Amino acid sequence: MTIEISPSILSADFARLADAAASVADADWLHVDVMDAHFVPNLTLGPPVVRSLAAATDLPLDCHLMIDDPDRWAVGYAEAGASGVTFHVEAAAAPVKLARDLRAAGVRVGLAINPATTVESVQALLPELDMLLVMTVEPGFGGQGFLDFCLPKIAAARRAATAGELDLRIQVDGGISVQTVTRCAEAGADTFVAGSAVFGGDDPGARVRQLREHASAALAR
Ligand code: DX5
Ligand code: ZN
Repeated sequence: MTIEISPSILSADFARLADAAASVADADWLHVDVMDAHFVPNLTLGPPVVRSLAAATDLPLDCHLMIDDPDRWAVGYAEAGASGVTFHVEAAAAPVKLARDLRAAGVRVGLAINPATTVESVQALLPELDMLLVMTVEPGFGGQGFLDFCLPKIAAARRAATAGELDLRIQVDGGISVQTVTRCAEAGADTFVAGSAVFGGDDPGARVRQLREHASAALAR
């Protein structure tokens, strides 16, 4: 299993996103949180910013859509230059169709589940996906505390992937730091989003390396 680190620009300076991307050049992805002030009570950015950011960095963009009606909007993020697009099952009307549309658009297909949504409720969808995002905070804001009760969900997701012999990445997002990354990796996560833990300090590149070291050490045990 390979570890992937996806720093979230939600905690970066929105006036200097290209600089933020350059500061984490060792990362595997750049996590771009799209919020619409409807699905979550916060508003961030849309396809024009994704298009500009894609042109400004070599890192693939991991777009996390916290928006209503992803059935209508998600493919537009692939067209804007995202390499991965993740939508929430709680917001999608036809998640299988949307996953197939995204796959046809050539991106890594991710499905996100909120803390209150069980892995069992999306089990039938897993073969349609490249990634399951197990949210470890309520979506909407950076800098929140990790919700410990999500750890068994990570383990359930890993068990389902193994049982189904699925090539499925398991991503965690929310409250990921050097303190929590180890427990997530031990539970079965392999893809780690971190916003405040990376961009909250003065050396984001070093924070990315540190998170990768902690996650890799947990996997090696
Ligand atoms: C929250 C977003 C996260 C956010 C995580 O809803 O989806 O990607 O940036 O921030 P931290 O790592 O600070 O919890
Ligand atoms: Zn996110």
